[in-house]
Amino acid sequence: MKIGIMGAMPQEIHSILKIVEEKEHKEVAMREFVTGKIEGIEVVVVFSRIGKVAAASTVSILILEFGVSHVIFTGVAGAIAPGLKIGDIVVGENLIQHDMDPRPIMPQYEIPLLEKTYFETDPVLSRMAAHAAKEFFLDHDVFPYLKTIGSDDPKVMMGDIATGDKFFSFQKDKDALLGALPSIKCVEMEGAAVAQVCFEFGVPFTVIRTISDTADHNAGMDFLKFIDEILVELSPEVIKGILSRMRKSLIEN
Ligand code: ADE
Repeated sequence: MKIGIMGAMPQEIHSILKIVEEKEHKEVAMREFVTGKIEGIEVVVVFSRIGKVAAASTVSILILEFGVSHVIFTGVAGAIAPGLKIGDIVVGENLIQHDMDPRPIMPQYEIPLLEKTYFETDPVLSRMAAHAAKEFFLDHDVFPYLKTIGSDDPKVMMGDIATGDKFFSFQKDKDALLGALPSIKCVEMEGAAVAQVCFEFGVPFTVIRTISDTADHNAGMDFLKFIDEILVELSPEVIKGILSRMRKSLIEN
């Protein structure tokens, strides 16, 4: 078992690297891949860069060059579903590329030749991720920053995630996305690209997204503050929680 861990924010990856033991570095295609161990399990940690192409090429390298058996993508997202607040966590159930539009030759959102619109995450890995995130909130119930924005009771949920090469910062774009794809909880820029590559290689994966902004006119400001104040603490703990569960299930089976 070897776990690929990817993230689209350098600050988040730096905080995860602090918990990697026996680190070794290797540069491939302008990216730094760090191999080592977390909770005794072999890992490869990498900054995916931003957007679908960057994420797809990074995960291909993880699979082909480093032979990872599972992929965990961790990062932030803009809230799309009403009621979601900054600090809530969405673990992906199905991933869709909201900017895929091959009409009229094929249906909107369908990936040409795969005849697939949604990519499902691995249910076992996703459940472990949701439990690890819930455990984090039980142990760290008061975030001073979350309190200042009226969200001191963050929730963890499973749900659908939309991906595309666009940062959402206008209410009208958010409304249009929710109108077209009502099951979507949040929007980001890498998950469904990772999902497509993992599907094609037959590698189980999950996507964990913490809501950093409400994908409207406040998006830019909330987003940057959120990364520095919350994500650097949350991500390594959630990764540790998943890997300790994976180690336990390895021992038990
Ligand atoms: N990732 C975090 N916030 C986002 C937003 N508003 N749009 C797209 N991706 C995001």
